[in-house]
Amino acid sequence: MTPATLATQSLSAFPDLSQAPTNQQLLPLTAETNAQGHLEVGGCDLVELVAQFGSPLYVLDEETFRRACRDYVQGLHDHYPGESLVLYASKAWNCLATCALASRAGLGIDVASGGELYTALMAGANPETIYFHGNNKSLQELAQALEMGCTVVADNWLELTRLAELAAHQSPDQPKPRVMLRLTPGIECHTHDYIRTGQLDSKFGFDPQALPDLFTFALEHPQIDWVGVHAHIGSQIFELQPHQDLANTLAAWFSKAARLGLNFQEFNVGGGLGMRYVEADNPPSIRQWTKWVANSVIQACRSENIPLPKLICEPGRSIAGPSTVTAYTIGTRKDIPGIRTYIAVDGGMSDNPRPITYQAQYTAVLGNRILETPDTTVTVAGKHCESGDILLKDIQLPNPQPGDTLVVFGTGAYNYSMASNYNRLTRPAAVLVKEGNATVILKRETYADLLRQDVLPSGLA
Ligand code: LLP
Repeated sequence: MTPATLATQSLSAFPDLSQAPTNQQLLPLTAETNAQGHLEVGGCDLVELVAQFGSPLYVLDEETFRRACRDYVQGLHDHYPGESLVLYASKAWNCLATCALASRAGLGIDVASGGELYTALMAGANPETIYFHGNNKSLQELAQALEMGCTVVADNWLELTRLAELAAHQSPDQPKPRVMLRLTPGIECHTHDYIRTGQLDSKFGFDPQALPDLFTFALEHPQIDWVGVHAHIGSQIFELQPHQDLANTLAAWFSKAARLGLNFQEFNVGGGLGMRYVEADNPPSIRQWTKWVANSVIQACRSENIPLPKLICEPGRSIAGPSTVTAYTIGTRKDIPGIRTYIAVDGGMSDNPRPITYQAQYTAVLGNRILETPDTTVTVAGKHCESGDILLKDIQLPNPQPGDTLVVFGTGAYNYSMASNYNRLTRPAAVLVKEGNATVILKRETYADLLRQDVLPSGLA
């Protein structure tokens, strides 16, 4: 099946789009083919968007992003009788618009740096639903998080001692700092090595062997509100079983804490649900995942004989990823007879570093010739001075030519957020599309932006 027919078929399988599971689709929910044979997203013709805003261009479909948020919130609500909270793991794509979309949909925000925190706050997120992660938060970041009333997910002893010091200097009328403990659960899952975090050999979180000392420390520091425990097993996970194993592990920690007199209330199971990048990918839907996780936590708490805690999860990729496509303009084409045909686009590893970093695969079509039969095998290269700057290897397109619009699907997560200015390429613009309207949410960088931080030393010989 070709990407174009697959894309169309996967959409037509859900004629009622209100039921479509976003992370199982290659394309955003609103994708359509128009009378010109062009691909549309959010009612906007991608060829026209490129004409108006230039390329490369990230195109974020508001409907798909919101649907994914709703599916998480509703999924936990339907299957978990206790309190629950979904956090948007903003590392997937942290900018004002994504943070605002997530918080308007009722999600809290997971941030992993002072910069992500600043952006979330400026987007209007409620600080009380912001959770601050990271394996090496600075003193300044910790102080900033506490001052704003965010929850800190403590990762190591240095942080705990700093948090205790900060808490000791707070005035008695200030609310107690809210701190959650992150542990490495020792759970392995099948994903790329760089995005696995649950195994014991990880830079993140406390080793479970530290539990007795951690609990003693917590009991000795009542000036901190010890809200609960957190663990995250990795990203782009298609299996459900590891999440059940995680629920059992977290519940066991919870009941240990309860036996020692610590009153934990929150149970944060991290994120990690995968999405479909290529036809062969088959992730569970958000609804299946939330049901599984909710039931796992309920069962685990039942067997540990503890009351249901507040259940928190923090998905990133499965919310942002499927909502977005990147439109490029094809430039050069190089045919090496008997070997390979390369086409080059006007972006590459600077706007999507995932293929070169994780050998990630994507699906693409020609957005200006969506109905034509893909009959040519090509490799899509970026424009960077680096042989490994290949975005898609050996894909089928309808004999692509310079000037065609190449549209790569599923680029909303870990693309813009990991983008760079390698070779001094300017970072692309992003538009939010809805019902035929496109709004710029990230301006295209200019050459002047590239020099914003540069200082030419005076007096150079
Ligand atoms: N919570 C924590 C503590 C995390 O470390 C992460 C992702 C998430 C939640 C969100 O996970 P998600 O739902 O997005 O899978 N750059 C890599 C992915 C790194 C994931 C980092 N942590 C990639 O492009 O595949």
